[in-house]
Parts: sequence; C-alpha cells; structure tokens
Amino acid sequence: MEKLPITLGDVQAVYDGPEGALWELIMGEQIHVGGFKSSMELATRAGLKEGMFGLDLCSALGAGCRFLVKNFKVRMAGLDATKTMLDKARQRADAEGFAGSIEFKDGDVTKIPWPDKTFDFVWGEDAWCYVVDKDKLIAEAARVLKPGGILAFTDWLEGPAGLSNDEAARINTFMKFPYMENQKGYVKLIQANGMTLIESSDLTPEFAGYVDFYIKMLTDQLTFDALKIIGDNMPLFQAMGGEMMFMGQMAHNGKMGRGRFIARK
Ligand SMILES: C[S@@+](CC[C@H](N)C(=O)[O-])C[C@H]1O[C@@H](n2cnc3c(N)ncnc32)[C@H](O)[C@@H]1O
Repeated sequence: MEKLPITLGDVQAVYDGPEGALWELIMGEQIHVGGFKSSMELATRAGLKEGMFGLDLCSALGAGCRFLVKNFKVRMAGLDATKTMLDKARQRADAEGFAGSIEFKDGDVTKIPWPDKTFDFVWGEDAWCYVVDKDKLIAEAARVLKPGGILAFTDWLEGPAGLSNDEAARINTFMKFPYMENQKGYVKLIQANGMTLIESSDLTPEFAGYVDFYIKMLTDQLTFDALKIIGDNMPLFQAMGGEMMFMGQMAHNGKMGRGRFIARK
C-alpha cells in the first residue's frame, strides 16, 4: 500500500481537536473497537498477571491503562504524543485514584523514552495505524521489553481482500493514517524484530459490524451531540457519514479490517 504524506502533526491535530472528541463520543473513553470486551480478550490471551509492569503505546485518554490496572492488577505506563489526550489521561487517572500506579509520558512511540528491558508487556489498541514507521515502532517495543516479555496489540488493517490505491487513499486521508499494515505485514515486522509470534487473528468480519453500529449510533441517537462537537456543521457531519459508509462497505468486502497480535520476546 502506498504511504500518504501524513505526519504525526496531522494526527496530533485530530486528537487535540473536535475529531478526537467525536471518537470519544462514538467509542467511549476506550477509543478502540469493542471497548472493554476487546481489551479483556487481548489481556486474557496475552496471559497478563498481577504485578506485571506494562507500557501502553498510544495511550490516548489512558483508559487502556486504567482498564488493565483495575482488572489485572498490573502497573502501567502510557506514552502518547498529543497534549489534550495526555492532560485528560492524567486528570482522569488522578480523579480515579490511579496516580500512583500509572505514569504518562509525552513522546513518539517510534522513540520510546524508557531504557531497554523495562517492561513485562507492551500493549496497543487500534492506534498504530497512525504511525508512519511501524518497523521502528515494533523495534522499539522489542527493545523496551524484558526477555520473555509479551507484545499484545490490536490494530486497523488493510483487509485480506486488499485495497486499491484509490480506496486506500480515500480511507487513509479521512482517517489520517499514513498507511494501514496488513496481517502478514505485522507478522513479518514482529519476526524481523526477533520476537516469536503467539497469535495473529483476522477480526475483519466483526469489524465490519462495528462500523455499521457506529453509523447507526451517529444517525439514530447521537446526532445532536456529534453536531455540537463539530460546531453544528451539518454538511461536515454528512460528509463524515459518507466516509464512514465507504469504510463500512470496504470492511464488508474484506478490504479493510482489524487484527489481534500477540508475540513473545
Ligand atoms: C485511537 S487513539 C488510541 C486509543 C487508545 N489506544 C485506547 O484504546 O483508548 C490514537 C492515539 O494515538 C496517538 N498517536 C498516534 N501516533 C502517535 C505516535 N507516533 N506517538 C505517540 N502517540 C501517537 C494519538 O495522539 C492518539 O491519542
């Protein structure tokens, strides 16, 4: 898939602005497909245990960290590059009494500001699609994992049926993704960075259903709230709806989707 010239600055503009708030409205504080259910599946399959120290790469509002501390009694660090997300993540962690068990740092996930062999696991949920250099990201994740540590993530992918360059450009421009990896591509990156693959699952069929679900929520329930976030701009709302419909169509055709990956260093 061709890479678009989308930079971290473009992604920061999304998550510092109304689009980020819109994603929270649609998905909740856990800004990923499947929310609690998806995180529970990922953490259980990854074999997370009480007392482990984990790093969430692209931690956004910090809900992934809070989910893991609450449900798996781990300690967490979160790394994100967008100020609004970090401010809210810190405020919400403090307000919920997690200040002592979660630390957030500002930074790019392709230059992780922690030393080698720090973490028992590295975690990511539906965010690495925004990263330009995914090879560097996986290499950095491997570097900060302890030997035997676990890499566990979900992400939006180019689906098994593949996208044409035009289809990919349309979706990636709307979503502000430089490109989407595919399932085989992630497996290659994991193995090229010296890790042993434990699981690689294609979740594309369920992803398609989620896109339908988000469109239905926006049109049948949350229209007022969504419009308020984007300055009551109805043409923009309709245009965004059109792009989501296109993504739904691509997902139903197996051209765009989502995957879950677990590996060991
Ligand atoms: C969809 S949200 C992540 C959702 C989060 N994982 C969750 O499940 O709640 C995407 C986040 O990725 C962050 N991000 C994207 N590219 C990044 C990069 N290169 N370095 C650090 N953060 C990045 C954005 O700032 C944004 O907060």
